[in-house]
Amino acid sequence: MEQSQVAVIMVPLPCQSHLNQLLQLSELISDHGIPVHFIGSATHNRQAKLRANGLNTNAMAKIYFHDLPSPPIAAIDPNPNTLDKTPVHLWPANLTYMNFRQPIGKLVKDLSLKASRIVIIYDRLVAEAVQDAALIPNAESYAFNCLSTFNLFLVLWEITGKKFEVGEELENLPSVKGVYPEGTLHFIASKTEYFKYSAGDIDNTSRVIEGTYIDLLAREGIRGNKKQWAISPRFPVKLSSTNDSKSKHKCLEWLDKQTPKSVIFVSFGTTTSLSNEEASDIAMGLEESEQKFIWVLRDADKADIFAGEARRIELPGGFEERMEGVGIVLRDWAPQLEILAHKSTGGFMTHCGWNSCLESITMGVPIAAWPMHSDQPLNAIFLTEILKVGIMVREWTQKEEPVKTSTIKNVVERLMASEEGDEIRKRAEELGIKVRESMEEGGHSREELDSFIAHITR
Ligand SMILES: *[C@@H]1O[C@H](CO)[C@@H](O)[C@H](O)[C@H]1NC(C)=O
Ligand SMILES: *[C@@H]1O[C@H](CO)[C@@H](O)[C@H](O)[C@H]1NC(C)=O
Ligand SMILES: *[C@@H]1O[C@H](CO)[C@@H](O)[C@H](O)[C@H]1NC(C)=O
Repeated sequence: MEQSQVAVIMVPLPCQSHLNQLLQLSELISDHGIPVHFIGSATHNRQAKLRANGLNTNAMAKIYFHDLPSPPIAAIDPNPNTLDKTPVHLWPANLTYMNFRQPIGKLVKDLSLKASRIVIIYDRLVAEAVQDAALIPNAESYAFNCLSTFNLFLVLWEITGKKFEVGEELENLPSVKGVYPEGTLHFIASKTEYFKYSAGDIDNTSRVIEGTYIDLLAREGIRGNKKQWAISPRFPVKLSSTNDSKSKHKCLEWLDKQTPKSVIFVSFGTTTSLSNEEASDIAMGLEESEQKFIWVLRDADKADIFAGEARRIELPGGFEERMEGVGIVLRDWAPQLEILAHKSTGGFMTHCGWNSCLESITMGVPIAAWPMHSDQPLNAIFLTEILKVGIMVREWTQKEEPVKTSTIKNVVERLMASEEGDEIRKRAEELGIKVRESMEEGGHSREELDSFIAHITR
């Protein structure tokens, strides 16, 4: 390993949407010539590398992956037959980083002898794993927040007793206690005591989207005087639909043949497990809407994605044949960002995980919001009621009811083929332009990353 001034260590929460974010940040930092060490169990490092969407192989080759010893990970099957979509089947993955406190301490100690400063960037949900490492004299640690700052602020503000007023719009929102599963809220809250070690916070968001909540997080009693940076979105935005790539995904070729903004992309992320009945209702709803679609239909990830086959979700007989030319059902990993960036895509039906929200907002695609659990219901409210770049599939208060075929049909028609939908799409496009501008030279988002790099290499 080369002698260097600064070395960075990444400590992710081991589930896909969180792994992805810290891996993307690793690339950005590594691009500045700073060595980056990415830690995890062998299984989760393999997963991160395998699914490194959009990262170039050169950048990947420069990242040092450390496989830390972990107990076997129980690969429980997700339970599709429940309306509560909280992914409890993923919890066994937590056991890996809970065992990492000592090995991380040792790694940081070893590296601290060779570099003048060690910078630890950890998912704020794994804070306890870096508590020893953060105390090494030439190490400093930064908490990385993968949630929207809208969510994080509302949670922290409520669990710290709402110490200041925040205006009617926010005060009238549902209590986080009614939205998050109790265990998850407790899980988030239990990390707070470790933040005394951190030198600052990084949020995966942009001032253009969430300036208000970034400022609220900086208030006394929440983060106070700690440094904070909002460094996102940071993905390649010129994913134009060129024809030169040999390995172009078949769905992108199909999109090339469709008229602009005529296709709705449907995907519920890596933690949602749909029952066959739910999938069937969605299928019928899409068919009856008579709109073009690309639908990613995969079962939720297990805590170990390499353990055994994933369940194949059944669709009504003849559906895929009837939909020939109208829609595509994808059973594998899909190029989501490229689909959203494609000119033929005009809407996104999503579970509203923050990754998907950021990608959709950046690409200027309006949303049909169907939140499933945890931070997703509040993200959905943020998109539909505050940014007004989407519509709800169903209100969170109706989460005990299965979503009907007729509801799905109506929402798809409203978003894709109505004046209301056109207006929402226009707003989404305008916001997307602003967000993309902020990533260019001289833009907010670019400046924040530069400022963070300057700070850690000071
Ligand atoms: C595991 O992590 C999730 C968040 O990703 C949390 O909601 C859950 O409560 C955790 N489980 C345990 C046993 O710590
Ligand atoms: C790509 O190819 C398709 C058909 O093969 C064509 O319709 C489309 O215009 C091409 N796109 C570009 C950007 O050249
Ligand atoms: C934030 O999330 C987006 C969406 O997944 C991702 O593309 C981006 O790289 C993330 N940003 C950082 C700094 O990790």
